[in-house]
Amino acid sequence: MKAVVITGASSGIGFEIARLLSKNYLVIGIGRSKTNCKNAKDAILNENPDAKIVYFIADLIQQNEVNRVADEIIAYLESSNNSKLYALVNNAGCVRSWYTTSEEGYEQQFSLNHLAGFLLTYRLLPLIIKAEGRIIMTGSQSHKGIKMHWDDVMLRKKYNPLTAYKQSKLCNILFARGLNDRLGNTGVKAYVVDPGLVKTDIGNKQTGGIVNLIWSIRKKHGVSPKVPAKTYEFLIEKHPAPPGLYYCLCKEKAYSRQVTSENADRLFVLSRKLCGI
Ligand SMILES: NC(=O)c1ccc[n+]([C@@H]2O[C@H](COP(=O)([O-])OP(=O)(O)OC[C@H]3O[C@@H](n4cnc5c(N)ncnc54)[C@H](OP(=O)(O)O)[C@@H]3O)[C@@H](O)[C@H]2O)c1
Repeated sequence: MKAVVITGASSGIGFEIARLLSKNYLVIGIGRSKTNCKNAKDAILNENPDAKIVYFIADLIQQNEVNRVADEIIAYLESSNNSKLYALVNNAGCVRSWYTTSEEGYEQQFSLNHLAGFLLTYRLLPLIIKAEGRIIMTGSQSHKGIKMHWDDVMLRKKYNPLTAYKQSKLCNILFARGLNDRLGNTGVKAYVVDPGLVKTDIGNKQTGGIVNLIWSIRKKHGVSPKVPAKTYEFLIEKHPAPPGLYYCLCKEKAYSRQVTSENADRLFVLSRKLCGI
């Protein structure tokens, strides 16, 4: 059975992607909480006892955790005679109200929303190349209207939570662009999904004050996570591979003019350095 890896598969959009894909794929979900992962797995199996779903626990904000879970997944795939990975969905994401850092001292939104996906992709890439697979980042419309803060990418000097979130979402699409620029001849394709406004609790986890309040109001207008989940299925299953970079509701969408090969290269070099690659 073809295997796919989904990060942030214990709730929200990632959970719905896992539920949808576990009908036809071996889904390897990653979540940070043992309880949430168990609940997610139980819910999927209750609905469909034939679903193929396993969860691995890792706090992907921390790079040693990303490396550990990558080792565990590679070993798991080898032990189940699966040498190929058909898709990696870098979906785990967070919002923070204040400047907080990972153990490496990296701002947490930048660390989880971008660097974790960068490092996990690097670690799993040989298996993805074997499958000529797809790499999908969960981006956001909010990547528009912002530029990279190259002189202070973690916003250490002047932190603004929304700026940090938007920049991390711009990184998602720059990373996908950088991957396509480098992997063009391997058959691997990278994409970004804009899920739209989705009713999840992302802005109410480890946040406080105005961020928490605004999200509590805003999410009421969001769609069910089932809606964006279909776009991931489309991008993974469609043959030949869809030609674009940025998709919403299974259709190509225009992205920011900041998404240039030059910016993508700059982010690639910086991310390699920050991930110790
Ligand atoms: N909701 C929206 O309207 C919207 C719009 C645009 C883009 N997005 C993007 O969609 C993605 C998914 O967000 P969501 O809205 O579905 O939110 P969510 O329901 O909070 O899902 C986030 C997922 O990431 C996991 N996670 C959080 N911190 C983690 C960590 N340190 N290590 C490992 N996993 C971690 C969460 O685990 P727990 O279950 O334990 O919390 C959960 O499984 C994010 O990248 C977000 O930026 C969302």
